[in-house]
Amino acid sequence: MKKLHIKTYGCQMNVYDSARMADVLAPLGYTQIDRPEGADLVILNTCHIREKASDKVYSELGRLKPLKDRDGTLLAVAGCVAQAEGEAILARAPYVDVVLGPQAYHRLPELVARAARGAGAALDTDFPVEAKFDFLPAPAAIQGVSAFLTVQEGCDKFCTFCVVPYTRGAEYSRPPASIEAEARALVAGGAREITLLGQNVNAYHGQGETGAETGLGALVRRLSRIDGLARLRYTTSHPRDMDPDLVAAHADAPKLMPFLHLPVQSGSDRILDAMNRGHTVQQYFDLVARLRRARPDLVFSSDFIVGFPGETDADFAATLDLVERVGFAQAYSFKYSPRPGTPASLLDTQVPEAVKDERLQRLQALLRVQQDSFNKSLLGQTVPVLFERQGRNAGQMVGKTPWLQPVHAPGSDALQGQVLATKLVSLAANSLGGIVVETERRSA
Ligand code: 5AD
Ligand code: SF4
Repeated sequence: MKKLHIKTYGCQMNVYDSARMADVLAPLGYTQIDRPEGADLVILNTCHIREKASDKVYSELGRLKPLKDRDGTLLAVAGCVAQAEGEAILARAPYVDVVLGPQAYHRLPELVARAARGAGAALDTDFPVEAKFDFLPAPAAIQGVSAFLTVQEGCDKFCTFCVVPYTRGAEYSRPPASIEAEARALVAGGAREITLLGQNVNAYHGQGETGAETGLGALVRRLSRIDGLARLRYTTSHPRDMDPDLVAAHADAPKLMPFLHLPVQSGSDRILDAMNRGHTVQQYFDLVARLRRARPDLVFSSDFIVGFPGETDADFAATLDLVERVGFAQAYSFKYSPRPGTPASLLDTQVPEAVKDERLQRLQALLRVQQDSFNKSLLGQTVPVLFERQGRNAGQMVGKTPWLQPVHAPGSDALQGQVLATKLVSLAANSLGGIVVETERRSA
């Protein structure tokens, strides 16, 4: 038995890709371990979206080098840093054995075998997304109660701050039939919730069996028909791709959960334009209103960037105003970081670090207040919780509300995979405490 350790950085798509890399290596006798020590192969599945992420990869490689010197551990760098930096990784860390981009995972066995034979470092950062999905084996299908499924990859939006169109390539949608087959396998393996993943998931346009294109709304309805599947989610969406059929799916597909990550990035029209986001603040408000009409209990999450080049105090104030007006259940916010090769990195109106720091703190304070008040608003209510796994303490189970809040409740393993009415009775920093009040299995 050979031992494999995968360290995953970045988004949920990387989490999914790491699982698929483990699948593809399983027939070669690799089993996963949760630390690098003792592994025959260590894969760093990297993220390139923000500066520190790629720095972390180089320092992690530095930490792994002694392991390689001592035990001959093979080192592979996968994911978006691999795609973006390619040869540069081998120049900076020449002891790395394999560098492979996100579209080359099906070639992992070959690349690893070649490296193991001492044939020198192997590099594959080609781009044919279709090939990856065709050649990967069926997933092991044991992702647990809450599973991820990639339906779309890549992005053609070219937001001026973002490396994704360069690292993940053009938009590609998998055919609905293969997605449904994978979803059914996941459900047969115990999944009760599936989160459909894509860099631009609502740009999904898979070719159906008849040759007609299927949008994400239709895909959600199709997957909703799978018995045993209780919940569906999708992430990450672009406001521009929220078509009327998908909005309607929020009204007519009850398995689609009332939580939507809909990044807006900024509340200033001027900055949205400079970011090439392709919509205005008012269009975002209108979209939020349409979605809320479709599903009144829908809550929103977003990504924000502060300190985009040229962002003034007034632009930033407009972002705070947008946050006040929409009200978010949760959000991620980042300081703008210039990414090599992106248009915004070339602008000479970069915002000083200290200004970015101060804006980030103010924005995060406001978002924190909103998140806390949303969590608090559910205290005392009884809501359906999907229980996923044991908690840290004995006799404690952890699950999620429809609005993606983690819930801890006393209970045994028997709760796993069940959706149960749970009374929310206490509040922690990022989760709620509950008591199961109904022991019958529910459908949503
Ligand atoms: N600087 C800061 N944040 C960024 N993001 C993407 N690129 C950058 C960048 N250059 C953020 C965006 C995106 C999220 C995944 O990461 O908010 O939605
Ligand atoms: Fe990046 Fe914009 Fe594409 Fe999102 S939509 S992945 S931010 S280019």
